[in-house]
Amino acid sequence: MTKTMMIVKTLPEVRQARGKLPGPLGLVPTMGYLHEGHLSLVRRAKEVCASVAVSIFVNPTQFGPKEDLSRYPRNLEGDLSLLREAGVDLVWTPDNEDVYPPGFQTWVSVENLTLPLEGAVRPGHFRGVTTVVAKLFNAFTPDRAFFGQKDAQQAAVIRRMSLDLNFPVEIEICPTVREADGLAMSSRNAYLNPQERQSATVLFRALSAAKTAFEHGDKDAGHLRALVEFTIAAEPLARLQYVSCADFDSLEELEQIRGRALLSLAVFVGDTRLIDNFILG
Ligand code: PAJ
Repeated sequence: MTKTMMIVKTLPEVRQARGKLPGPLGLVPTMGYLHEGHLSLVRRAKEVCASVAVSIFVNPTQFGPKEDLSRYPRNLEGDLSLLREAGVDLVWTPDNEDVYPPGFQTWVSVENLTLPLEGAVRPGHFRGVTTVVAKLFNAFTPDRAFFGQKDAQQAAVIRRMSLDLNFPVEIEICPTVREADGLAMSSRNAYLNPQERQSATVLFRALSAAKTAFEHGDKDAGHLRALVEFTIAAEPLARLQYVSCADFDSLEELEQIRGRALLSLAVFVGDTRLIDNFILG
């Protein structure tokens, strides 16, 4: 039996629809142009929740003025049919005005965790993310929310926000889904031309080289960062923006790896900015 999927646009409609759904409710926030990475979160939510809701909203406040907001890929009809097939119960597809009321001036921001890595090169990005995710938590009042390890710092920041603001939501972080050649799935992969698409495997190759060294006993974080730099430098279409080997919890840069570490990087392949990470230890 297939149940019908509710698709709503305004906040009162979300609240009303949510009230009809049996709990526990799982929420998967997205910006659309859905791929297997997003769908893996939906499937996980289906496993552990009686009802599943998805939001599709390209959130303008998390994009910098020179970033790709206006050309961010969109395919609402395709997204809705994937979600219907996956058995989702409720989808919110708001417009900007449904999320940000006129005169909007209230922000949620997490402090130290947002300073390094993505926060350092995308000022204001995480303030936009945490603000919209707080709004999504208020709109849906989910019991659980699902995020991807692909965006490792985002996951850490949202977990912190949820704890600090006492949202009664269990945050679950799900593994990164990859293409057969190792490239992490991302809506932004759509920007790559065929040549760039081939080069883009360099992120996975660089992380893998460092992971192999780590597993052979190299615990020197500087050495692992250098291995990543070296691998990226050998790929003509790729330019490294940053590489980090940081403490998994604090995201502070390490010299020696003792506990769990997050090895992460951002790379421009042509004009497209890609990120990826591995957990070490
Ligand atoms: P978006 O990039 O659409 O990603 C939505 C969710 O899917 C995020 O939790 C992200 O980490 C996860 N995801 C993306 N690619 C993945 C992959 N290859 N494997 C596993 N999970 C993956 O992240 C955002 O949107 C936004 O910042 C959002 C949280 C929706 C706030 O606007």
